[in-house]
Amino acid sequence: MARDGAWPARQPAPAEDEAVGGIRIEDVTLVRGAARIFEGLTLNLAESRIGLIGDNGAGKSSLFRLISGLDKPQQGRVVVSGAASSGHVGLMFQNPDDQIIFPTVAEELVFSLTARGEPRQAARQQALDFLAERGLSAWAGRSVGELSQGQRQQVCLMALQISEPRTLLLDEPYASLDLLSQARLAEQIERSRQQIIVSTHLLEHVQDFERVLWLDEGRVRADGPGREVCEAYAADVRGRARAERGNHA
Ligand SMILES: Nc1ncnc2c1ncn2[C@@H]1O[C@H](COP(=O)(O)OP(=O)(O)OP(=O)(O)O)[C@@H](O)[C@H]1O
Ligand SMILES: [Mg+2]
Repeated sequence: MARDGAWPARQPAPAEDEAVGGIRIEDVTLVRGAARIFEGLTLNLAESRIGLIGDNGAGKSSLFRLISGLDKPQQGRVVVSGAASSGHVGLMFQNPDDQIIFPTVAEELVFSLTARGEPRQAARQQALDFLAERGLSAWAGRSVGELSQGQRQQVCLMALQISEPRTLLLDEPYASLDLLSQARLAEQIERSRQQIIVSTHLLEHVQDFERVLWLDEGRVRADGPGREVCEAYAADVRGRARAERGNHA
């Protein structure tokens, strides 16, 4: 299957004023369980490409949960595209099994459409067409449980793409993808007119972004052009690795 997982060359172009979203996080405090994840966090996220980097536990997934409305802040507020709603935001979960609900690929895609109000019959046809455009018609009736981790991640991406949210939040989307699928996704992100925020440990995928945020224990440690922020983070990691080696010597 040469085109397995391929994205179509053409994207439906949204109207100019819909091309870029806007998210404001205003003085947000978020507590999950016993952990105080964010305290007084303020961010204006308006750029079309934003990378999110930082150590395990830094707060990347928590920030996505906040923006997508899955978690409500104890203090402050999150404003999406001028309205206090999360309807324009689609989140791709770090773990595909947290996202996928239905037993087959087609049903999962159909749900993305019926959830935003499409009639079921039209949604089913659209889902089948969407798979066909990607050379993935054979996936329609496949059981999600029988797909590999990377394939399930691709299903999650497609389920998001098909509903065309104004803002896409991709939580470590490259983690399980093979190299070809990573290249396809990077190209897809580059071509898309949507606002896309990507968290990743693979810095090469965000270093050319106009803006990258480095999160460190729930705080913004650096915020600026991708190359600068990625270099600062990589240098910090190298320094910590050296210090650890020194301690163990
Ligand atoms: N359900 C939860 N209850 C309590 N604390 C949580 C919960 N989920 C996450 N945390 C804590 O919130 C902090 C941020 O976690 P988060 O998952 O946002 O990190 P992350 O940057 O996405 O890490 P990773 O790179 O491992 O995905 C961590 O200290 C984590 O232990
Ligand atoms: Mg995470």
